[in-house]
Amino acid sequence: MVDLSVDIAGIHLQNPVIAASGTFGFGLEFADFVKLDQVGAVCVKGLSLRPSSGNLGRRTVETPSGLLNAIGLENPGSEYFLEHILPKLREQKVPVIANIYGHSVQEYADVARVLDVEGICAVEINISCPNVKQGGLAFGTDPSCAAEVVRAVKKNTHKPVITKLSPNVTDIVCLAKSVENAGSDALSLINTLLGMKIDVETQRPVLGNIQGGLSGPAVRPVAVRMVYQTSQQVHIPIIGMGGITNVDDALEFMLAGASAVAVGTANLYQPDTLATLVKGLRTYCVSHHLPRLQDIVGRALPQGKESMMYVASRG
Ligand SMILES: Cc1cc2nc3c(=O)[nH]c(=O)nc-3n(C[C@H](O)[C@H](O)[C@H](O)COP(=O)(O)O)c2cc1C
Repeated sequence: MVDLSVDIAGIHLQNPVIAASGTFGFGLEFADFVKLDQVGAVCVKGLSLRPSSGNLGRRTVETPSGLLNAIGLENPGSEYFLEHILPKLREQKVPVIANIYGHSVQEYADVARVLDVEGICAVEINISCPNVKQGGLAFGTDPSCAAEVVRAVKKNTHKPVITKLSPNVTDIVCLAKSVENAGSDALSLINTLLGMKIDVETQRPVLGNIQGGLSGPAVRPVAVRMVYQTSQQVHIPIIGMGGITNVDDALEFMLAGASAVAVGTANLYQPDTLATLVKGLRTYCVSHHLPRLQDIVGRALPQGKESMMYVASRG
């Protein structure tokens, strides 16, 4: 028997494989492809206080080994989610992580308060939004703004708080430490990398929003590097993501120090990826005589540099 389970910020997951926000709908849309009660957790599409229709124009375009998206955080709003979606999701018996966003610190706090209900196991803060109060600066690129959001959310929820970091910074460790000090219980990294594509015939940007977020295998080396750097410097667990498509990709993130992994873009073209990963991780443990998958977390780190999480998990 192999133990795939993991405890992240007080949440017990039967395995470390999570559906990344925005790429798995609200989970129910994928129920024909993946038995939801067999995945570690589902992180739902980013929720705001009020419904949002997202960006106009074209919203996605494929790139070499990747995807550019500029959905613009379309969602039905937190109240609608609670009334119409969460009850159905609860029937699936899968831990639900609520991904949230706002355009001001107050808005983040308000969404966290509305979603502080039974049936949601944790809140994941997407800090890649422009801060409207400060003229469009993204919360996720300013360590003190990011910390302010975390403190406000912590004050308004009883749930564990996971902060999802943006890779669009020079020093990811600085951001990670700042939100850890502000009380974040865990980190998710990474969100998408800013990019754009231009159509040479129309001679115009392809996406309605001009810029988009790059995801998929193209970003994986960047994401692994960020997890590797961060896991040596923080004492809270990390959910690693960015271009995971198969079991080896997931293992790479865990060896770099991620306690759990999330799959995003791969769900869009291979909707059973989460199930395949759970199976593959079990097979890896058996073939490598590992009774506990968590024992590999951080194994690729330099000796003596394992994160506190790694030391703790090895008992
Ligand atoms: C179409 C699309 C929508 C996304 N929506 C969200 C979102 O609502 N909130 C969020 O925090 N991240 C969102 N993301 C980012 C993903 O959750 C993930 O962090 C990123 O895509 C990297 O993982 P991947 O390469 O496996 O897709 C979105 C990504 C894509 C491709």
